[in-house]
Amino acid sequence: MENNKAYIITGPTSGIGYATALELAKYGTVILVGRNPEKLDRLQKEIKDRGQDALSVICDISDMKSVKNAAQQIIALELPIAGLLNNAGIMPAKAAKSAQGWDMTFATNHLGAFAMTEALAPHLTDGANIVFITSAIEDPERKPAKIMGMKGGRYLSAEASARGEWKAGGAKMPGIDAYATSKQCILAAAMAFAREDVRLQYNAVEPGITRGTNLGGESTNAFIRFLFGHLMAIIPPFSTYSSTPKKSARVIAKILIDESGKTGVYFDEKGQPMLGSVQVRDPGFQARVVAETRALLSTIK
Ligand SMILES: NC(=O)c1ccc[n+]([C@@H]2O[C@H](COP(=O)([O-])OP(=O)(O)OC[C@H]3O[C@@H](n4cnc5c(N)ncnc54)[C@H](OP(=O)(O)O)[C@@H]3O)[C@@H](O)[C@H]2O)c1
Repeated sequence: MENNKAYIITGPTSGIGYATALELAKYGTVILVGRNPEKLDRLQKEIKDRGQDALSVICDISDMKSVKNAAQQIIALELPIAGLLNNAGIMPAKAAKSAQGWDMTFATNHLGAFAMTEALAPHLTDGANIVFITSAIEDPERKPAKIMGMKGGRYLSAEASARGEWKAGGAKMPGIDAYATSKQCILAAAMAFAREDVRLQYNAVEPGITRGTNLGGESTNAFIRFLFGHLMAIIPPFSTYSSTPKKSARVIAKILIDESGKTGVYFDEKGQPMLGSVQVRDPGFQARVVAETRALLSTIK
């Protein structure tokens, strides 16, 4: 084990993040960033029992003040951080407000990851990898999402997203426009960061339709859970993109420990480069998302 490196992971207490934390612990100290102290303690113990190293930082990623505090605690550790994985995410059917009064899905999936990245980037080692877990649902042309009536990211502005407002003509399924827009924004930001900051590598991963996680678990009914959990793994075209937390974890960890200098790449669930939506690929759109997000975050006192 290379003990001289550290990797940060948000949302390590479940699903893809949990499997990736265990995988990353093979390569260095893992800094587990989560909101549930008991779950963090359990995972930290599990990693330590394997003779590997982990420590925990409490953070509600939807609350920008909590993100700032967590980033300060991580910086104070003075560890040589070689990677940051922005994985924490939600897909609730019911809209809710964050501590700042912003749309909970947008705050968790986009604003929290964005703020964490901006706070930590200057403190990461040269050539460190920052990875964002996004979702192909942001693309209105993505086949499996289209079949399910999803309409892609519905961005109007960062402020409108924070208010929970999405471009008209969206999906009928509740919560999907918020989720798709949040993922559209963080993917666009990842690509803009890659151009802005050549000292570090910024990449994104679409982890595949990953069964056995808690995503959307609090709001979906038993049939939907069965659909996501089992049927999608065998029915085309969903099965083409099917994955498990363990498989996704191996792909994600490989990108986080990569030293070849790849940046601005959007990887699929097999670790192959893929294309985002037409809108997300537009550098003008990427720059707008970043500028508007920075302006929104700067309003926090
Ligand atoms: N599963 C899929 O098919 C799929 C497909 C595409 C993209 N993704 C993305 O993959 C990532 C991981 O999702 P998953 O499927 O593994 O879901 P999951 O099992 O629900 O895991 C989500 C993780 O995020 C954490 N989290 C949520 N809200 C948080 C908050 N406010 N503060 C701190 N941590 C928070 C959760 O913590 P708790 O344990 O405390 O709840 C958990 O550790 C997400 O970004 C998701 O959008 C998943």
